Amino acid sequence: MNIAFVASEVYPFSKTGGLADVAGALPKVLNELGHNVKIFTPKYGLIDEKKYGLEYQQWIGSMPVRVSGIDQKVHVHKAKLPKSDVDVYFVDFQPYFYRETIYTDDLDEAERFILFSKATLEIIQRLNWKPDVVHCNDWQTGLIPLYIKDNYNWDQLFHHTASLYTIHNIGYQGQFGKDVLDKAEIRHEYFYNFGEVEHNSAVNFMKTGISFADIINTVSETYAKEIMTKEYSAGMDYILRYRSHDLYGILNGIDYHDWDPSTDKHLPYHFSASDLSGKLKNKKFLCEQFNLPFSPDIPLIGIVSRLAIQKGFDLIARSLEYLSHLPCQWIILGSGENYYEDMFETFASYRPDKAACYIGYSNELAHLIEAGSDMFLMPSHYEPCGLNQIYSLKYGTVPIVRHTGGLADTVLDWDEYSSLGKETGNGFSFRDYNGFALTNAVERAIKYYHNKKVWHKIQMNGMSCNYSWNRSAEKYVTLYELALKKVVK
Ligand code: ADP
Ligand code: GLC
Repeated sequence: MNIAFVASEVYPFSKTGGLADVAGALPKVLNELGHNVKIFTPKYGLIDEKKYGLEYQQWIGSMPVRVSGIDQKVHVHKAKLPKSDVDVYFVDFQPYFYRETIYTDDLDEAERFILFSKATLEIIQRLNWKPDVVHCNDWQTGLIPLYIKDNYNWDQLFHHTASLYTIHNIGYQGQFGKDVLDKAEIRHEYFYNFGEVEHNSAVNFMKTGISFADIINTVSETYAKEIMTKEYSAGMDYILRYRSHDLYGILNGIDYHDWDPSTDKHLPYHFSASDLSGKLKNKKFLCEQFNLPFSPDIPLIGIVSRLAIQKGFDLIARSLEYLSHLPCQWIILGSGENYYEDMFETFASYRPDKAACYIGYSNELAHLIEAGSDMFLMPSHYEPCGLNQIYSLKYGTVPIVRHTGGLADTVLDWDEYSSLGKETGNGFSFRDYNGFALTNAVERAIKYYHNKKVWHKIQMNGMSCNYSWNRSAEKYVTLYELALKKVVK
């Protein structure tokens, strides 16, 4: 099958979160399964062209892409996705993509991704390559299913092209004013009378993707059910229930080439399930880096996250006083909302014996925290899939999570499963979204940490889980086939 994979971030070129990890891993595995995959992504100014060998596509040259009625001059670069045979096409338009961050609050945020979406289809035309499926991801690519069915349908190249729309996070929908209709060349009939692109009187890119894609999926089975409810849908439940026959959940995999403690190139000490001694050495190294007193008897709890409300930091804020008195230490890596950045910095400066934090982005440190911590905390309010808890399982770092979305599908509570007579728990989880439930889960984890036999069993249960991409990639192929059936009769 020919698969065009379109994403606004792709690891290792650009990344703000898990979407990049997925976009950098799934295409590789689909390619290994024998499919022809090409990735399309913006060329941000932050991308290191030399390091990744980006090649300017002279034969395409300057390609006019119309946004807001103006032909913009777009250039195209190409590189291989590292350690694979997958071609990555970069949409280069400096006025839009050379900014300090990947996503912005700038007034032309809609135009940036209208241009990206159109340019993707126009590169495909230039390549004269007929995709069976265009796999779109999140709101930034939400217009593409509409464009394939309408604006670009004059081109027979797309007559049998299906689209799959993957929702990684329904909290970000790309909602813009009505003026975007003309900027994006969307027919007004799709907007008025509660049309396919309209939500709350705005043009909504996520809803557009959901409305026009042949098949829709999200990144865990539980989240697929949750987003059909009012509580979790951020307003999209009505359209998702309407399309429920075409909505699926496929859990993300993880790339064990990058995330395996026995080979991880970012770690000073390697370890595996059969020999955990390196894990303790990593903990010592990590503590030394942050001037935290090291003790094998005090559990170290790690957090690596975007500091956004989604991730449950308001719960931590409410319980911080209590948590700071528990017999454990904390190491936090994250960036995002100022309030939470300040909260963790203040915590670390008041209690340097207990907590350390690094506000910013560091892939290397993310690996070291996964390896050196004893536990990993993700009290998310909602979590479509979540990758860090899956990395944690592999690193023998026991996850403490809220039972929601992908966290519910990957982390089994030790107490719950041992009370069923099965010692299959691989972490700790809590259901109610309140500080008491959170602190209770943390205290349970601390209690078992001191029971070496049980703790080892919990770690082993996690380390033996396999969330490699192969299984999930095969499920995606099934969805591509389903989508194709809808367009090839
Ligand atoms: P989300 O996509 O909602 O942010 P995920 O758990 O799916 O959540 O993925 C987050 C990814 O981003 C993980 O690979 C995690 O290690 C990484 N990450 C998040 N914050 C940071 C940070 N400050 N520094 C380095 N990596 C980070
Ligand atoms: C989103 C979600 C996260 C998921 C990631 C990759 O950013 O918040 O839960 O793991 O996308 O699908």
